Amino acid sequence: MISRLCATEGVSDDEAAELSMALLFAGHETTVVQIGLTAVLLMGNPEQWQSLVDDPALVPNAIEETLRASRRGGGVLPRYARTDLEIGSVTVKAGELVLLEIGASNHDPDVFTDPDRVDVNRSGANHLAFGRGARYCLGAPLARIELQTVFTQLVSRFPTMQLAVDTRELTLRPDSLAGGLTELPVQWR
Ligand code: HEM
Repeated sequence: MISRLCATEGVSDDEAAELSMALLFAGHETTVVQIGLTAVLLMGNPEQWQSLVDDPALVPNAIEETLRASRRGGGVLPRYARTDLEIGSVTVKAGELVLLEIGASNHDPDVFTDPDRVDVNRSGANHLAFGRGARYCLGAPLARIELQTVFTQLVSRFPTMQLAVDTRELTLRPDSLAGGLTELPVQWR
């Protein structure tokens, strides 16, 4: 795709570089990171993994639930208020920066009962992992296809797969904006 962008007449070098950066970060890295986080959430809760092994038709639901559950904080979306507004007891003035915390909303106990529990049977469709409104993630349908494909394959081809280390030993990459796991050791019989 990047080669084709570069070869397209009328696309300047700067545009090609900018689009390539967007594709690699927004389009590639986010999904790679999510595959790792989803794997940890499912294998870290072996009964949830087993539910998918027993019934792979649950995978699409499991992907929504893990998108919800894996956003625990730090994923703030910046916005500037266009007008003065009241949120709860806070007054936000026009022009002020507001940081919207996706992780908090995805763990709102008023919306998701027992929000810290991963439950592949839960309907997690209300999550905000892809944002909301005008800036809703353009690649959400593609990310969903990729995640569903990966985990449909993994549970059918490696049904006995499990984490090879305790989740407390896992570390996050410090050198990447999207975060993600440094490594994810697994084993199977
Ligand atoms: C699991 C994977 C992904 C996650 C968690 C994710 C998350 C997000 C979030 C939260 C936003 C909203 C940002 C905001 O409101 O400021 C967003 C926007 C966006 N995402 Fe994704 N994304 C993922 C995959 C992808 C993929 C695969 C693509 C492209 C192929 C993509 C392209 C974009 C673009 C272009 C925007 C900006 C949309 C706009 O501002 O109109 N994303 N993404």
